[in-house]
Amino acid sequence: MIFRFFHPFLLLLFTQFVLLQAFTGTYGINYGRIADNIPSPDEVVTLLRASKIRNIRIYDADHSVLKAFSGTGLEIVIGVTNGQLQDMSSSADHALNWVKENVQAFLPETRIRGIAIGNEVLGGSDNALWGVLLDAAKNVYNATKKLHLDKIIEISTANSFAVFQDSYPPSSCKFDNNVKQYMKPLLEFFQQIGSPFCLNAYPFLAYVSNPEDIDINYALFQPTKGIYDPKFKLHYDNMLDAQIDAAYAALEDAGFHKMEVIVTETGWASAGDQTEPGANVTNARTYNYNLRKRLAKKKGTPHRPKNVVKAYIFAIFNEDSKNGPTSERNYGLFKADGSISYNVGYHGLNAGYSSHLSLKDINTQGLSRSYTITMILCLSALILMIF
Ligand SMILES: *[C@@H]1O[C@H](CO)[C@@H](O)[C@H](O)[C@H]1NC(C)=O
Ligand SMILES: *[C@@H]1O[C@H](CO)[C@@H](O)[C@H](O)[C@H]1NC(C)=O
Repeated sequence: MIFRFFHPFLLLLFTQFVLLQAFTGTYGINYGRIADNIPSPDEVVTLLRASKIRNIRIYDADHSVLKAFSGTGLEIVIGVTNGQLQDMSSSADHALNWVKENVQAFLPETRIRGIAIGNEVLGGSDNALWGVLLDAAKNVYNATKKLHLDKIIEISTANSFAVFQDSYPPSSCKFDNNVKQYMKPLLEFFQQIGSPFCLNAYPFLAYVSNPEDIDINYALFQPTKGIYDPKFKLHYDNMLDAQIDAAYAALEDAGFHKMEVIVTETGWASAGDQTEPGANVTNARTYNYNLRKRLAKKKGTPHRPKNVVKAYIFAIFNEDSKNGPTSERNYGLFKADGSISYNVGYHGLNAGYSSHLSLKDINTQGLSRSYTITMILCLSALILMIF
């Protein structure tokens, strides 16, 4: 009882000193679960802790996940699904109950830090949702405010590249004409409450749509001559930086000069259809390995050097129940059995059989050498055990 009595007070004290920021590191990961064969949430916690990944996004508010994350220190952003948007926008009570049941009930043991309102709604195929997104966001925000959670829970929504037009070169990027009337008031609201612009950025998809004109090395953070943006007077040596600066350019064009861009999804498929050139294990490893190094530098982009790039990788697992092209089911850093899809320095659930690299090892020694050493050590241990 005493604890319950003090609890709101402590929470209030806590919120006074914590800056509202859902993403505390630079490297996070999306935990998509459209699969019938992936490890349990408890095993995922083990996997994430071993990989030292602390920032996680899920696409719903699944209670088995929220329970498994309790007391782990993992920071999680949860989601209102697109299917729930209509209800959230039409009823403040509905939003309040949702926040009580899916957020308040799990705090503070489960570190819920943000709520994503829908996913890739604007510019997406379900036009009926474009007009309800803002009211859904407002109702959910008001609910967090009513429950005194607005200082620890960040409200946002992830945008795909479908919200833009003319994204090449970056300086020419604008919000699409059809999207603009919905985007502007949404951004005004996010600006008021201090939320960032969330971008799902896939050099992979840009490359697949135009493999003749795009140098794959530019998409993969490999050595390349890059591109020059004449208006920005800036040089880009990788496409992800250019995509982020395209988002900044669109925000500036719409009058939002201070808003930060956060990458809520990026990744590369390790398998794809005939029509998806570049989707293979070699390229997926190269992208994710170089991306990890890029984020570890804690640097901004050419146009916004002071805004350190933060990104959530897509995704933890290959998801076998997803629709669409083969690539959709093959974005995982891990396979459904918990083993690694390719080596970027993490080890799988069956840890003995994969490497134990840290990022430092990768940077200083190069991958193949320490991988070989680890394999030799594992083999020697095995031989010792046998004899
Ligand atoms: C949110 O709350 C504010 C006052 O706290 C109110 O003015 C506003 O109308 C509310 N918004 C919605 C969508 O209910
Ligand atoms: C992956 O694709 C690249 C071209 O993008 C090719 O050079 C490479 O050989 C392919 N790797 C595998 C394992 O198929």
